[in-house]
Amino acid sequence: TEEELYTVYKGVYLIKKIHNQESLKYYEEFSFRPDDILIVTYPKSGTVWMQEIVPLILSQGDPVVVDTVPNWDGVPWLESRAFIYNLDQRPSPRVFVTHFQYNMMSTGFVKVKPRVCYTDWRTRDVFTSYSHFSRMASFLVIPGTQTEFLNKFLDGKAIFGSWFDHVKGWLSATEQHIMYISYEEMILDLEASVTRMAQFLNTPLDSEMIRKITDRCVFKNMKKNKMSNYSLMPSTMMDQNVSEFLRKGIAGDWKNHLTAAEQMQDVKYTFVWDYFCVFYHVLGQ
Ligand code: PPS
Repeated sequence: TEEELYTVYKGVYLIKKIHNQESLKYYEEFSFRPDDILIVTYPKSGTVWMQEIVPLILSQGDPVVVDTVPNWDGVPWLESRAFIYNLDQRPSPRVFVTHFQYNMMSTGFVKVKPRVCYTDWRTRDVFTSYSHFSRMASFLVIPGTQTEFLNKFLDGKAIFGSWFDHVKGWLSATEQHIMYISYEEMILDLEASVTRMAQFLNTPLDSEMIRKITDRCVFKNMKKNKMSNYSLMPSTMMDQNVSEFLRKGIAGDWKNHLTAAEQMQDVKYTFVWDYFCVFYHVLGQ
């Protein structure tokens, strides 16, 4: 149950096994540098994809880092395991990831304004990926019926809180140090997405490097990378026989997952929200 597995922090559920007092204190006191790069996502919204793309941009396509270091060490989670990695000794630019909502960010973040890449995916795709993930990850509450789980998700009773609050908070921030990129954009044209990210990160890449990075990061190639596909994680934590971490990697799988009634259920939310997101993405570019 939620009581057994989750803890409440700043009004949202976090995972007891992963987010503890030590890790959250470390996060709250963390000293950002202005050239740090923070990947921000709601869960199941392209996190591992960004954890692969950003280091490859910084290394100008040299795959050695993403081939030899697990993504949770190469691009650590600030609110969970970061405190074990001596991040203050890492050279700039450092890259991290967080699932925190905008209003949960630390005062250090607000003051220093490190660079942020915010990636969002549409609600129904996030929910679909999340449903599968909940069955394979032992640190998450096992969903009841799909409709029950959908109701919880729409009510924000999920880890890191409501998808709507997350997207609204980050998209409304529209500060110069935040770049927005959507899943649709990445799926439709990964080369253009990598180019835009490289520009934001002040790392000009020639077209050959961009092609190389794009090729490394397409779903079928990333799925083979042990450092990114979570196959190094013990099956007691993530059971990939139940559902693979890099499962389908497509937009629109919700059509195969949700019943017609469930598809209608969140229309009232997603119709408005999808337009809200598109509006902000257009503004942000
Ligand atoms: S987590 O648990 O929050 O870190 O998960 P996250 O990485 O945010 O989301 C997992 C989904 O991202 C898909 N993914 C990709 N899609 C397309 N191309 C690439 N390269 C890629 N890498 C990861 C992954 O397959 C999960 O989505 P589903 O729909 O479950 O396949």
